Amino acid sequence: MPLSFVSKLKNASDVFTFRDFILLPGRSEVEPRDISLATNLTKKIKLSLPLVSSPMDTVTEWRLATEMARLGGAGVIHRNLSVEDQVEQVTKVKASKVEAKTADDKGRPLVGASVSPMDPKRCEALDKVADFLVADVAHFHNSNVLQAAARVLPNLTKDFIAGNIGTRRAVHDIASELPRVDGFRVGIGSGSVCITSEVTRVGAPTLFAVAEVSTAASELNLDIPIIADGGIRGAGDASLAFAAGASTVMLGSVLAGTDESPSKVVTRNGRKMKVHRGMASAAARKARYALDRYSVPAKGLDEGVEAYVNYSGKLEEVVDAFANGLRASFGYAGAKSIRDLWGVATFGQVSAVGYTELGVHSLTLKGGA
Ligand code: XMP
Repeated sequence: MPLSFVSKLKNASDVFTFRDFILLPGRSEVEPRDISLATNLTKKIKLSLPLVSSPMDTVTEWRLATEMARLGGAGVIHRNLSVEDQVEQVTKVKASKVEAKTADDKGRPLVGASVSPMDPKRCEALDKVADFLVADVAHFHNSNVLQAAARVLPNLTKDFIAGNIGTRRAVHDIASELPRVDGFRVGIGSGSVCITSEVTRVGAPTLFAVAEVSTAASELNLDIPIIADGGIRGAGDASLAFAAGASTVMLGSVLAGTDESPSKVVTRNGRKMKVHRGMASAAARKARYALDRYSVPAKGLDEGVEAYVNYSGKLEEVVDAFANGLRASFGYAGAKSIRDLWGVATFGQVSAVGYTELGVHSLTLKGGA
């Protein structure tokens, strides 16, 4: 029994979120056009843009994954499909005749697949066709998951990204219990459609989680790239994640509204929108059990919602605007690359009262509702 519950509360960690921080302007010798956004997705895989699409059934199927690779990022095919259908989705990306900036050694678009280590059949099938595997587990720091990953990893040949995790302790345990890991997927409870923290009151918000994991990785001298996943609303949040040690960001809601996402355009109150849903929402969970009779309901709990996002047109335009935002942010911070930002970035903490001053305020917007 702990001696003092009061001291546990008093010694609680500060759990930083994107809304709590800004980057301070730094002395800058770089113009936005001189900035490189090139980065590592895994130990081996390099990207010219630090953007990865989330394995969600309203975000990444073959069309969006192919376009992500063409533009220099990468896509991860979701697993709300039978193993055969997920393999087919990956195969379609590999067969696409596009000139991809992110390509394998035969010039074909590079693509990832999401898997659960608890499903070795899926892991091994996708390992044969995809270029990298991304664990798609809400809480990877779980003994059953770690043991399953330790068993399946020796049979896999492709880069394996472990996640989601959000604490230093998780990195230490993964490093000591798994034969290898080539990337970390980091953040628990910050996703736009996620209600995990609301329902369970447990979470590791993405900015906090990235700082924890990057700190542990450097303590252990692990050169393992971090994907910041969940709650990234735009280039500003992404820059904060990079400044805290991430190498790439994973995007769900930002990409769900594009032409290339698999969900249909609907009109609501005269506006074009697309459906976006959490992979642990009631609807997505129902679809999973219907499609894959081998999947086992993990918990009888909905941890996501179904929602709409604004229709946003071509993925290329959304990605270009995002990349321009990143270059502007790096320019202010005085960094010419992500690695450079790790070194030069300094954070400012924003008070809850001061937060409103940093957005549009004290006026009525033209064309506003
Ligand atoms: P954004 O904010 O980019 O977040 O839409 C995408 C990430 O959210 C996570 N995700 C979920 N988390 N319940 C959760 O707790 C869910 O139903 C759910 N669906 C997705 C996931 O990490 C994704 O990449």
